[in-house]
Amino acid sequence: MSNATLGGKFTFSGTSLTVHRIGYGAMQLAGPGVWGPPKDPDGAVAVLREAVAAGVNHIDTSDYYGPHITNQIIRQALHPYPTGVVIVTKLGARRPADKSWQPAISPQELTAGVHDNLRNLGLDTLHIVNYRVMGSIQDPAEGSIARQVTVLADLQRKGLIRHIGLSNATAAQVAEAQAITDIVCVQNNYNLAHRQDDALIDDLARQGIAYVPFFPLGGLSPLQSSTLSSAASRLGASPMQVAQAWLLHRSPNILLIPGTSSVAHLRENLAASQFTLSAETLAELDGIAGAAAAVNH
Ligand SMILES: NC(=O)c1ccc[n+]([C@@H]2O[C@H](COP(=O)([O-])OP(=O)(O)OC[C@H]3O[C@@H](n4cnc5c(N)ncnc54)[C@H](OP(=O)(O)O)[C@@H]3O)[C@@H](O)[C@H]2O)c1
Repeated sequence: MSNATLGGKFTFSGTSLTVHRIGYGAMQLAGPGVWGPPKDPDGAVAVLREAVAAGVNHIDTSDYYGPHITNQIIRQALHPYPTGVVIVTKLGARRPADKSWQPAISPQELTAGVHDNLRNLGLDTLHIVNYRVMGSIQDPAEGSIARQVTVLADLQRKGLIRHIGLSNATAAQVAEAQAITDIVCVQNNYNLAHRQDDALIDDLARQGIAYVPFFPLGGLSPLQSSTLSSAASRLGASPMQVAQAWLLHRSPNILLIPGTSSVAHLRENLAASQFTLSAETLAELDGIAGAAAAVNH
């Protein structure tokens, strides 16, 4: 698969890490509700191996997926990691036995989380760690994150983390963190229908910082829109491919981490950059967010 097929390349600013713009998000590899083992463990391993064989070198994960299980599957499937594979993990949450998502933000919890990730992934140093702000589950909420980012920066100085990013963060939190350490990526909820971060994306693009949408396909409520479907049928693409092509077009600092437990969906997603969107199609797709906002109010 050619580089162009995977959306071209992006180098995380201030780092030696270069990845293809189409990567892979591993959250779907755990069991239902991101809890416990998958129904098809061999299938999960197959998805990861096929992704990397196709040229994917950006894998998003967290030790709280499973918990622990997703990282263990990544290690089983890919370790020793091929040169150039960048694994991005997250800290800031924990999964108690009731399967809820709770903050884990004390210095002790963050430090233990780094060691859990190192052990379960089989790494000596984590490539990129996103501090996942838990102010609100799916959208950012203001509040200082300086103490937590300072803990991660200390772990970075100790050599346990190479680079730091943020997830579910506001523009103010990005600026606050940048006063403490370099921030190489921001991972927030964003897609065709959910565009609260338009201004942040443009600001990060000016700084060369990666913006990595989570829920690029709509996540728990997969994107559904007659506009998207009709654009897809005109292009001979699937709606999910068009949603990803739109993200690639939206800004050159956007990196994709679509999540799937299916090899067929993986192949479809990896082909998304083959579709060129005309100005007319882009204008139609740009209207989806306004329509979605109107329905939700
Ligand atoms: N930072 C955060 O707080 C946060 C939150 C959520 C997710 N994430 C990260 O972001 C990644 C992406 O988010 P996500 O996985 O939640 O949501 P997503 O990528 O928007 O959508 C995943 C859903 O779409 C389905 N899907 C994938 N490819 C498809 C295709 N080609 N056609 C039809 N359906 C398809 C998947 O089902 P199948 O398995 O059946 O394909 C799954 O149900 C995650 O894997 C995770 O790494 C981060």
